[in-house]
Amino acid sequence: MAKILLTGGAGYIGSHTYLALVEAGFDVVILDNFSNAKLDVPNRLQNIVGDSVTVVNGDVLDRGVLDALFADHKIDGVVHFAALKAVGESVEKPLDYMHTNVGGLLNLLAAMDAAGVRRIVFSSSATVYGDTDVQPIPEDHPRTYTSPYAFTKIAGEQILEQLTDDWAVGILRYFNPVGAHKSAMIGEDPSDIPNNLVPYIAKVATGDLEQLGVFGDDYETPDGTGVRDYIHVEDLADGHVLSLKSLIETGNSHTVNLGTGEGSSVLDMVRSYSKACGRELPYQIKPRRDGDVAVLTARPEKAKVELGFEATRSLADMCRSSWAWVSGQIRNDRD
Ligand code: WQD
Repeated sequence: MAKILLTGGAGYIGSHTYLALVEAGFDVVILDNFSNAKLDVPNRLQNIVGDSVTVVNGDVLDRGVLDALFADHKIDGVVHFAALKAVGESVEKPLDYMHTNVGGLLNLLAAMDAAGVRRIVFSSSATVYGDTDVQPIPEDHPRTYTSPYAFTKIAGEQILEQLTDDWAVGILRYFNPVGAHKSAMIGEDPSDIPNNLVPYIAKVATGDLEQLGVFGDDYETPDGTGVRDYIHVEDLADGHVLSLKSLIETGNSHTVNLGTGEGSSVLDMVRSYSKACGRELPYQIKPRRDGDVAVLTARPEKAKVELGFEATRSLADMCRSSWAWVSGQIRNDRD
């Protein structure tokens, strides 16, 4: 059974990818410093898989931790999530983002190379495409950064593109991951007021927040609000399994979008979430948010051709799974 190192594996996408990897028959080791993950996530994962979860509480910036981990475990491939990912925060703390996201990747690659591990799936983002009218966006669209966060993702991709010979690299560009695992035992769990749309709507649905602010209704879109390519986090996790399998089986590298190709507006999401939670969710139109673009949707075909990946879950599935997770948390908190 192939053994995989999952850096940032206790995080939102990492924990869902953990479950998909175990379901696909992989043995998995999680490395996480829990700077953006709750300490009880490994226990939740253990309850779902019904088996022990191997976790190393450490940082990709710590070479000693990495060398010890590769000495303790015969790793066949790495899925690298551990990074800082808030666009706004990256503008305030560019050096932190470059240190963790670029320095951390370089440290990980050096440790992998020393251990003879040369298969890596890299968590990238549609943010590498910048602000573009080309919609849906193909993978060969030029890259341009609009924030230090986007810079670190482009830098990471370009570093990985220098690795040839016996390296195989999967670069996965996520669009907008949302939703939660079908067990409703893990999901997006932001500790403070969310910047992103769906976790914010979820807190309105639970009553933790009063109403949603809709950032602009004067965009060139069907209802004037921002349009994005939302993808269920379980579809996204499945994409990582297919990427890893391809690297291990073929040794060939790939760069693909992970999206649905479908655009949904802010108000589409409000309607869908209102249906999922059984009540009309309140919102108020606010001014546009700096840095937002009108539309961001993926050309999804390349992932289908190269990996056999296709997103299958609907916007309703995304909202239902998110509501089951956040409403279940209320029940757990009451118990
Ligand atoms: C979606 C839509 C907002 C909040 C971000 C990062 C991107 C990636 C995914 C890391 C937009 C609107 C939002 C709110 C709103 N992260 N909105 N009210 O900005 O597309 O992408 O997350 O890789 O890098 O930029 O996602 O969820 O913040 O916004 O009206 O309270 O919802 O204007 O149209 P975004 P988002």
